[in-house]
Amino acid sequence: MVRALACLAAATAAVTALATTAAGAPPSIIRLPRGFRPEGIVALTPPYFAVGSLAGDGRIYTFNAASGTGAEVFNTPNQTIVGMSYDPFSGVLWVAGGPVGGNVLALSDGGATLLATIDVPTDGNTAPAFLNDAIVVPRAGAVAVTDSVNAALYVVPTAAACGPPARGLAAAVATRARRVPLTGDWVQVEGFNANGIEYSRRARSLVVVQSVTGLLFAVDWDGAAKTIPVKGGPLTFGDGLLFDAVDPAVLYVVRNRLQVIAVVRFEDAATLTDGARVERNITNADWATPTTVAQAADGSLLTVDSQFGAADPAEADYFVYRTPAATGGESKKGDPRVCGRRRHGWRVRTRGSQGVSSVVAASISADAVNTPGWCHRRQARVWEPHEAPEVGESSGVVRLTLRILLMVSSTAREVKRRWERAVPKAV
Ligand SMILES: *[C@@H]1O[C@H](CO)[C@@H](O)[C@H](O)[C@H]1NC(C)=O
Ligand SMILES: *[C@@H]1O[C@H](CO)[C@@H](O)[C@H](O)[C@H]1NC(C)=O
Repeated sequence: MVRALACLAAATAAVTALATTAAGAPPSIIRLPRGFRPEGIVALTPPYFAVGSLAGDGRIYTFNAASGTGAEVFNTPNQTIVGMSYDPFSGVLWVAGGPVGGNVLALSDGGATLLATIDVPTDGNTAPAFLNDAIVVPRAGAVAVTDSVNAALYVVPTAAACGPPARGLAAAVATRARRVPLTGDWVQVEGFNANGIEYSRRARSLVVVQSVTGLLFAVDWDGAAKTIPVKGGPLTFGDGLLFDAVDPAVLYVVRNRLQVIAVVRFEDAATLTDGARVERNITNADWATPTTVAQAADGSLLTVDSQFGAADPAEADYFVYRTPAATGGESKKGDPRVCGRRRHGWRVRTRGSQGVSSVVAASISADAVNTPGWCHRRQARVWEPHEAPEVGESSGVVRLTLRILLMVSSTAREVKRRWERAVPKAV
């Protein structure tokens, strides 16, 4: 606890004053803007979280979980924001864009600045893509994205956040998304299929829930899926997934219409396919349709209630609910997602062969992208709906820095070679 707090304080020095003014218990309910229609929630640098909107105007709301205050930091027309994943190495927030166009967004500044919009390849699909959830795996230099209506995953190189490659590197740097068909035990059925996605660092495997059947799969980067037997399953209406920050054997599975979060415990965190059981359900009498969950530095869970089927979604009030940690523990180890950009920089650099883009990202993570001060700046500014977001000065600097680092870190051929090697091995 002491160490976690010290670490948190160091990592967010500039915001400490703000966070401590809200000393005492953090709010257990956080109100979102009226009509927001939230679906995804993700933890940014503590104590900040981002929530995305299904309303179609590309809104992202970022809030301070310690004080409960927040602001809409982004919007763009004709865009849904569904599942999100945050890369603490680079400060890039990855977004699954839902049904509109089958795209993935990369943003910085806690969602305030659009770095890139990435289209995914849809050849081989039987229906228009619905990109539902994303998980960034910095060590693999890749983001995996689920499609709820086609039997495929999309794999986006993290380097795609830099935008189109600079001249000369164009032919070599992998920035294009790939479509990876789901195979093995995966059987595509009628209805909503692949939904929440997570990555087990212990098992080095992706995990996907198939909503309609409630089956849980361990999935390789090449799309090969293996069923995970779950006692107390199936996990029908499975939506957002989240591995506990402290206990790698615990996976939270949000079951939206059943209004529970299943606490799923694996027999062996390193071999997910040995099986798991539903240890207990987390419930809350106020939830209508909880969809996704994120975890705060103290281990507590923040669940967003989407209220699917609300009579008048544009006028409905939406909330995020905090529940105490299921594992009952504070992060003693200093969860890398919570604490320590320096840790990551060190770790990634010593594992230099694993995905050049993550090395690049780690190198710039210091203060370029994810300075704690951003939230002060952004909170002062609330955009009107549909107002096109300005591309701030920082994004230009970030892009330029990323490009320069890409160029000096390796020859173009080396970049390509490492990317090809890193991803299929599912580091
Ligand atoms: C929204 O995006 C989709 C997919 O790109 C496109 O087909 C549609 O025309 C767009 N709608 C508007 C109003 O721009
Ligand atoms: C969890 O909730 C589901 C859905 O309501 C229920 O079927 C299951 O029995 C519950 N499991 C436990 C361990 O309480």
